[in-house]
Formats: sequence, C-alpha cells, structure tokens
Amino acid sequence: MTDINNLENKLKKSINKKRFKHSVNVMYTAKELAIIHNIDIKKAELAGLLHDCGRIHEIKEINIKLDSINSANEDFSKNENLKHAVIGAYLAEKEYNVSDIDILNSIRYHTTGRANMTLLEKIIYIADKIEPDRIYDGVDELRELAYRDIDLALLQILNNTIEYVNRKKLYLHKDTIEARDWLQKELKMNN
Ligand SMILES: [Fe+2]
Ligand SMILES: [Fe+2]
Repeated sequence: MTDINNLENKLKKSINKKRFKHSVNVMYTAKELAIIHNIDIKKAELAGLLHDCGRIHEIKEINIKLDSINSANEDFSKNENLKHAVIGAYLAEKEYNVSDIDILNSIRYHTTGRANMTLLEKIIYIADKIEPDRIYDGVDELRELAYRDIDLALLQILNNTIEYVNRKKLYLHKDTIEARDWLQKELKMNN
C-alpha cells in the first residue's frame, strides 16, 4: 500500500486548508474506531484521509472525467454533495492509486450511506460526522456511542440526516433511506 505521507502531501495541494485539516481529523478518528472495532488500521486511515479528495478546485478538468461516471449515477445532478463522493472514489483510484474496493466504496458512500455497509464504510461515514472539529448538539453523545456501539451510532446519524434533509426540504438520496431501513431491520433481528 502506498505510503500515507506521500498521499497526505498530494492531497494537501489539491483541496483547501480547512478541508485538509478535516481530512486529517477524519483519518485519526477512523483510526481510533478501527482499533476499537478491530479492523485494518491502515485501510481506515487511508479511507479517512482520502474521503473528501473529490473536493478539488479544478472543476473544469474534472467535469470531463465526470461524464464517464455520470451515466451510472442518475441522481448526480440533483445532489451537489453526492458529487464530491463519486469524484472522490474516482480520484482515489486514478490519482492516488487506491485499488482496495472497500476503501473506494467507503469514499463513494460517505455522504449517503447505503444498505449492507461494511464495517469500514460505517467507520468512515461516522468518523466524518464526529471528528474533533465537528460541533453540534449531541455530538459528544454520538462520539461515545460510536466507540460503544457502531450500529446504534450509525442509525442515529442516518436518522438525524433524514430528519434534517426533510426539514430543510433538500434532496434526500434513496441510498440514505435504504441504509436506515436496512440497519433498523438488522438491529431488530439481532435483539
Ligand atoms: Fe465529504
Ligand atoms: Fe468530510
């Protein structure tokens, strides 16, 4: 696997300062969650660091590349926020030489979630929402929950997101609803 310091330097040049700091924070939070929940630490670090690598400045250049991704994502145009996740997964593979499909999917689905998320996908999705610079009501409880019970933390975040998006009358992606419904069912089955 590529040396993470090289990737850090490359990433630093392509996204803004604030976003870079956030990315490093997500990398460390993902690492902590990986240790606690017993998955590959290096993979979690890499996915955390690169999760927002799609937030690049050179939109023009990337728009050409986007066309090739676009056909597979019909909801793309309705959701600006989704775009950077799709671009991110694309760039992680092409520019950062990530070949691990679990890492690429963690980047691809970090804004929406989806049904049947892997543990790494869950960790990246959650780390993005609870990294140390995130400040909002209930974030400390969520941090504590993420360490204790990752599925309950994920369900809480998905529900918060759905509630927020509906309240603001924004576009709610079907993957998010499917993620919530799937997880709810899983949790019921295990109880
Ligand atoms: Fe993001
Ligand atoms: Fe992020």
